[in-house]
Amino acid sequence: MDLPKLKIGDLVADIPIIQGGMGVGVSLSNLAGNVAKCGGIGIISSAQIGFKESDFKTNTYEANYRALKNEIVKAKEISGNNGIIGVNIMCVTTNYEDMVRVAIKSGADIIISGAGLPKNLPELVKGYKTKIAPIVSSDRAANLICKLWTSKYNYVPDMIVVEGPKAGGHLGFKKEDLDVEENDIFNIVKKVKMVVKVYEEKYNKVIPVIAAGGIYNGKDIAMSLKSGASGVQIATRFVATDECDADIRFKEAYVNVKKEDICIIKSPVGMPGRAIKNKFLENLDSYKINRCYNCIKTCDRKTVPYCITQALINSVTGDVDNGLIFCGSNVDRIDKIVKVEDLIDELINEVKCYEENI
Ligand SMILES: Cc1cc2nc3c(=O)[nH]c(=O)nc-3n(C[C@H](O)[C@H](O)[C@H](O)COP(=O)(O)O)c2cc1C
Repeated sequence: MDLPKLKIGDLVADIPIIQGGMGVGVSLSNLAGNVAKCGGIGIISSAQIGFKESDFKTNTYEANYRALKNEIVKAKEISGNNGIIGVNIMCVTTNYEDMVRVAIKSGADIIISGAGLPKNLPELVKGYKTKIAPIVSSDRAANLICKLWTSKYNYVPDMIVVEGPKAGGHLGFKKEDLDVEENDIFNIVKKVKMVVKVYEEKYNKVIPVIAAGGIYNGKDIAMSLKSGASGVQIATRFVATDECDADIRFKEAYVNVKKEDICIIKSPVGMPGRAIKNKFLENLDSYKINRCYNCIKTCDRKTVPYCITQALINSVTGDVDNGLIFCGSNVDRIDKIVKVEDLIDELINEVKCYEENI
């Protein structure tokens, strides 16, 4: 079977693979641009994207707006100026609305928003062609956002990303619900499809549903498509690529990690997260917060054990012993760093082989 294209309204990706947004600084223009060049959708993470700007510490918001614009323009160039480039903007970001506005004006093709429900996103993109996609972890959340957007804005999502419990970074599940069978990604996709069907019929619009979290190989992609998904969002595997924007030591942590070193943390954002157990997580008691970047609406500055901005900047810049390394549940299966093009070719071939052998 040839992989179907992924159609999001008038946006058409040659292959139904979205590279998941990874902050801070893990998916910037190089990774996103190269994925888009190969026919997938490249997603830049907007989280503290200005961390390399010289005025980041004194002028954080402006540094973030400037860097976001530059990264979108660069990613487009890398993709050959016709690739699809999106931006992941977490709803809990303090200046969420302004980040969305900058992304749209800078030419982002799609905005994907999770870590909360993007309740007012339709209002922010009104008048622009930019597509909008919420990330949900249940059919209940899918229904909630569709109901809200239709009643308030007469608008249905252009796409919905369903993120299951095997994903990396922040998770939309309680720790005790992560291994519950009912929360299997393919099961949730099927249930979200049923919700979406009602709105598709009412609005005469196709709403692609995307499976995310633990999608590792061609078999997982084929199973996602079988469960009704129009495509997949993959993040962890794209970290172990030459083009990923993180420092080589971050990528090596992925290659070297063992299953028993993957853990679930309680993030300062207020959600559980999946990360690699390392010296940083073992020594949290001695951590001192020097500065607040005012990055997250839900962060309780007085009680959090560490600053998530600083912890993520440390790891992405190579200080992996003093930083937080987010990862997906299948990270231990990665054994080498490859080129984006080779990874995508491998995935496409695996889908074909899987289909031929069943
Ligand atoms: C290092 C890392 C950072 C991430 N950062 C973000 C983020 O900033 N915003 C977000 O919505 N999701 C984030 N995610 C989640 C991914 O976008 C993706 O949906 C998920 O990890 C997919 O599962 P997989 O990693 O098993 O492929 C992150 C994931 C990883 C591994």
